[in-house]
Amino acid sequence: MKYVLEIENVSKLFFGLVAIDNLTIKVKPGQIYGIIGPNGAGKTTLFNCVTGIYKPEKGTIKYKGEDITGMSSYKIAQKGVLRTFQNIRLFKEMSVAENIMAGCHTKSKQKWYHSIIHTPFYKKDNEASWKTVEELMEFFNLTKFALTPVGDLSYGNQRKVEMARALAAKPELLILDEPAAGLNENETIELTNIILKIKEMGLGIMMIEHDMDMVMKLTDYITVINFGKEISQGIPSFVQDDPRVIEAYIGSDDDEDEE
Ligand SMILES: Nc1ncnc2c1ncn2[C@@H]1O[C@H](COP(=O)(O)OP(=O)(O)OP(=O)(O)O)[C@@H](O)[C@H]1O
Ligand SMILES: [Mg+2]
Repeated sequence: MKYVLEIENVSKLFFGLVAIDNLTIKVKPGQIYGIIGPNGAGKTTLFNCVTGIYKPEKGTIKYKGEDITGMSSYKIAQKGVLRTFQNIRLFKEMSVAENIMAGCHTKSKQKWYHSIIHTPFYKKDNEASWKTVEELMEFFNLTKFALTPVGDLSYGNQRKVEMARALAAKPELLILDEPAAGLNENETIELTNIILKIKEMGLGIMMIEHDMDMVMKLTDYITVINFGKEISQGIPSFVQDDPRVIEAYIGSDDDEDEE
């Protein structure tokens, strides 16, 4: 498999206005692919097209060679495309362990009646899931919060729970929408190291991020978007010095450290 994700000539309109304009992006397994651009450029909209929240008007999206354009978000997640959100979405009253467990169920082949009649399959599947939850809490240094309601955690730890929940579904493509938003410097460093470790697992990672230090440290390849259009594409050092990119950021009146 050469590419885990192929976005080809994708466009998305809102009420006739172009939010995504003919984007083509290809992500390889084991790669961290950065999507950057000023506020309102269309980055989240692109992720929403890939994860089935929006259906693009034009173009195709393939995951592991299979056309997933317009498929439901549930089905796309089940296939192994998992994400985190710009504004954290977790079950705030539920514990850390329960939130991560919810991620395990995305890919589980359990039928509804398995949990009622407690079939051997249910038992085995459940044991495997709890083991995954334990391993992920260990990996994210969250074990001490296993039973804590997620709403009581710091923002940084909530971001980690969201990422753990996505990983619990064993994705081959992980999509992160501004993972460092709202984090302090130490939390950002910790998260950067965690993402590098996730990369070693061999999955493809796509990431929107405004923290340029983090982007430069983590990404292998970048597409820069402005007004829904690609304005540059390349390795981080190329994109960073591209005059078109510098102009877009200056012209956007946008503080890149913000948000
Ligand atoms: N559901 C929607 N209905 C109408 N317009 C939308 C919708 N979602 C996004 N837009 C518009 O599409 C454009 C792109 O928005 P998007 O959220 O994708 O930007 P972004 O690059 O993620 O910005 P930010 O960095 O601020 O998160 C914006 O003009 C936005 O107002
Ligand atoms: Mg966004």
